[in-house]
Amino acid sequence: MDYLKIEGPVYLEGSIDISGAKNAALPLIASTILAKDDVCISNVPEVVDIKTLLKLLGNLGAEFELKNNQVNINTSTITKTTATYDIVRTMRASILVLGPILARFGHCEVSLPGGCAIGQRPIDLHLKALEQMGANISIESGYVKATAKDGLKGADIIFDKITVTGTANVVMAAALAKGKTTITNAAREPEVVQLCEVLNQNGVNIKGIGTSVLEIEGRNKELVEIKPFGIIPDRIEAGTYLCAAAITNSTLTLNNVCTKHLGSVTAKLEEMGFGIEDNQESITIKPAKVIKPVRIVTQEYPGFPTDMQAQFLALATQAEGASVIEERLFENRFMHVSELQRMGADIALNGNVATVSGKTPLSGADVMATDLRASSALVLAALVARGTSNIHRIYHLDRGYDSLEEKLVKVGAKIQRLKESI
Ligand code: EPZ
Repeated sequence: MDYLKIEGPVYLEGSIDISGAKNAALPLIASTILAKDDVCISNVPEVVDIKTLLKLLGNLGAEFELKNNQVNINTSTITKTTATYDIVRTMRASILVLGPILARFGHCEVSLPGGCAIGQRPIDLHLKALEQMGANISIESGYVKATAKDGLKGADIIFDKITVTGTANVVMAAALAKGKTTITNAAREPEVVQLCEVLNQNGVNIKGIGTSVLEIEGRNKELVEIKPFGIIPDRIEAGTYLCAAAITNSTLTLNNVCTKHLGSVTAKLEEMGFGIEDNQESITIKPAKVIKPVRIVTQEYPGFPTDMQAQFLALATQAEGASVIEERLFENRFMHVSELQRMGADIALNGNVATVSGKTPLSGADVMATDLRASSALVLAALVARGTSNIHRIYHLDRGYDSLEEKLVKVGAKIQRLKESI
């Protein structure tokens, strides 16, 4: 296993190129199950989660190649429809194959993903929606067994809660269903928007894209021909590097971003006193004279993203005063707190509300990554902490950040990726 050895404090300068969005690439790669033949996708981040999904599709029989951030995939060779536990347990987003496989083949078995570090992460809303579309669903021996021998039919779906992958799953299932599907309380994340845009541009008639009410005209099992496209920039990766500049009070430019997807994040950074220069496809952050404390409540898009909560919590340790950060989406997404406390952070946790007192000088320490975004928060803290930090279990980081240490070293960070001695 690898760990990252990080020396601090450092200043950063220069520019970082942002990769394609993992959480857009995952549903879009799953959507190739709906395609008649080859699909070519560019600007794909070469992260572990993407490789895991491609491996899963390969196990079902699909043929693919991932090279130079480009995926070429053909799913016409799929002969199996079971996503097995050994893969699904390593990546919950495997559930994204359920909707398209069921819609195309009329049957699908997907291992229940099981819990994860940040919460129980149920999939009840996915299953309830597919049942409304005519699927028979049972849970047997830890697997979701779904059949729809007469094919899926359009339905009026109302999500009790906004679910990103739940919306994506139903959009893909509805694409091949018979008749129209309406999704009310649909997720509006840019990653869901791109899935809808790509399908809509390739013959799946979708109305309401970007709103919370989607209407999908089913093609009654007629497969889709998907023209080549590129994945949108990763707004969470971009937000993470903006926080890296902010916590080290550096000036940094990010290229290949979509600044309109970063509104709630840059607004909070400006509130904290940082300068933001928005140039549409690039963005420059400048140091704050004094870092002001912040109040954050995580919400679905376009609200403040839960995937940026850990990074801002680390940043808040350097603000002059008390910041209050409330996590509303997941029940256990503060595991970075105890690790940051090991570095000297002064954080009080009360249920799903964290109060961060600053400005607190941080000191390097051995810390453990627990989930994807918590890991990035520890990297940010290590950049400003005095001394050496060793961040262990960084396989969490590798799931969602493409070449993180290379990108940070290029702008002045002192990071080495080393092998654990044991
Ligand atoms: C997606 O997860 C993202 N993952 C997550 O990013 C992100 O944190 C999350 O959306 C929220 O934005 C991918 O896109 C691959 P949800 P998802 O379904 O779809 C509850 C990262 O860091 N819920 O929108 O699994 C659920 O428990 C990852 O890249 C149900 O109750 O999240 C949660 O409280 C972490 N029943 C809330 O809804 C369901 O059937 C939002 O979950 C589904 C969800």
